[in-house]
Amino acid sequence: RIAGPSGLVIFGVTGDLSRKKLMPAVYDLANRGLLPPGFSLVGFARRDWADEDFAEVVHQAVREHARTPFREEVWQQLAEGMRFVPGTFEDDDAFAQLCTAIDELNASRGTGGNYAFYLSVPPKFFPQVVRQLKKHGLADAPAGSWRRAVIEKPFGHDLASARDLNAIVHDVFEPDQVFRIDHYLGKETVQNILALRFANQMYEPVWNRSYVDHVQITMAEDIGIGGRAGYYDGIGAARDVIQNHLLQLLALTAMEEPIAFDAEALVTEKLKVLRSVELPEDLGGHTVRGQYAAGWQGGERVGGYLEEEGIDPGSTTDTYAAIRLGIDNRRWAGVPFYLRTGKRLGRRVTEIAVVFQRAPHSPFDTTATEELGENAIVIRVQPDEGMTVRFGSKVPGTSMELRDVSMDFAYGESFTESSPEAYERLILDVLLGDANLFPRTEEVEESWRILDPIEEYWASHGKPAQYPAGTWGPEEADEMLARDGRSWRRP
Ligand code: BG6
Repeated sequence: RIAGPSGLVIFGVTGDLSRKKLMPAVYDLANRGLLPPGFSLVGFARRDWADEDFAEVVHQAVREHARTPFREEVWQQLAEGMRFVPGTFEDDDAFAQLCTAIDELNASRGTGGNYAFYLSVPPKFFPQVVRQLKKHGLADAPAGSWRRAVIEKPFGHDLASARDLNAIVHDVFEPDQVFRIDHYLGKETVQNILALRFANQMYEPVWNRSYVDHVQITMAEDIGIGGRAGYYDGIGAARDVIQNHLLQLLALTAMEEPIAFDAEALVTEKLKVLRSVELPEDLGGHTVRGQYAAGWQGGERVGGYLEEEGIDPGSTTDTYAAIRLGIDNRRWAGVPFYLRTGKRLGRRVTEIAVVFQRAPHSPFDTTATEELGENAIVIRVQPDEGMTVRFGSKVPGTSMELRDVSMDFAYGESFTESSPEAYERLILDVLLGDANLFPRTEEVEESWRILDPIEEYWASHGKPAQYPAGTWGPEEADEMLARDGRSWRRP
């Protein structure tokens, strides 16, 4: 899988995402030999830079964030194909210059007219950039070549705005030209959910309501909002990551086997799950939102959300969200899916825990038995990538005492191959036109259908509960599970 002749144009090239993820990913791909020799990278932003200044910015980003070792010859070849177009998104002259740059690169680097336009810009600019691409003829591929649009989240703020946005994008690009990034789908462990489920025989027979008690999907972060106040405030945890990453994890965990491993078949199955998702009747009792207060993290005192720079001191934005969802189909009826996410929690960990019902009967004398937990299969998405199976075992000794133990699979121990960073894989897929790992319009809209009523409920019901930084979230979240006779895992 090596990309053919092509180039990438990044709008919003001065942003954090571009510096930390996109530029290093392009270099890593080149370093792994997955880009064509004439690959070209064009930056577009409101900066008074020459091509060399842009190349220097990329150089620094690569030195700081690339995964693979720096190799001068790879860098040189890549740097020769870098161009910078200064301008604002209203500026017709700048877009005309972009056209010239592309023509010149087609001739000098043999990019074949194949370009992906990466919109790494705040959503309010999406419509303008897309319209400019259309106006300047950049969205239409010359015969025998392709043009693609890569769109970063958030895809709207709610269902209505997502629909508006989709209408604008699809007015310019055909559905198969649009690649929406959900970088969780680019993660190795996330793709492995499907391998685990559908390349094996032993999991699927128990992967249903007859054996599963509930599922917990956790995405915990130890970081706060850092310098992202402008983006985060007013958006919050649920819109930031539940609408996309967590609902995608839910869909992959719960979906039926796709008829093939291709974009069409995957979307079909994921959509069926998302369409079957049911909200709890009692939104007050089965959703919780929180906001971090000052606390301790990694031995350091850290401030609360409202003290962060750029945050409105009266903000009611959620930095923690937990919700209970149901899936109304034959496989999952009655099995709760608990989703939770938060900033400034105990540690950084993302995992999917499928928790099984207790054995219906035990021949062992339970008085002599330590209390046994439930069996569980835990897919460890990050940072300690792998899988854990938990089950009860006899404690060595003369009595029949049982205790929970774990069996672990760790990527680091089982494989010598290294995995590419999520953005690396996704950028390569865009250049190859492989849409398997990109959510479709319908999935995005369906996710908003799920989230909108929750956000509306929260907006009219007081403030988020406070939790001290460095803990596992507000007490209300523990109470939410306790009412169901369950408890959150402490990964
Ligand atoms: C992004 C969110 O999509 O994912 C961020 O906007 C979050 O708020 C990030 O920090 C987490 O990504 P990862 O890959 O570090 O889990």
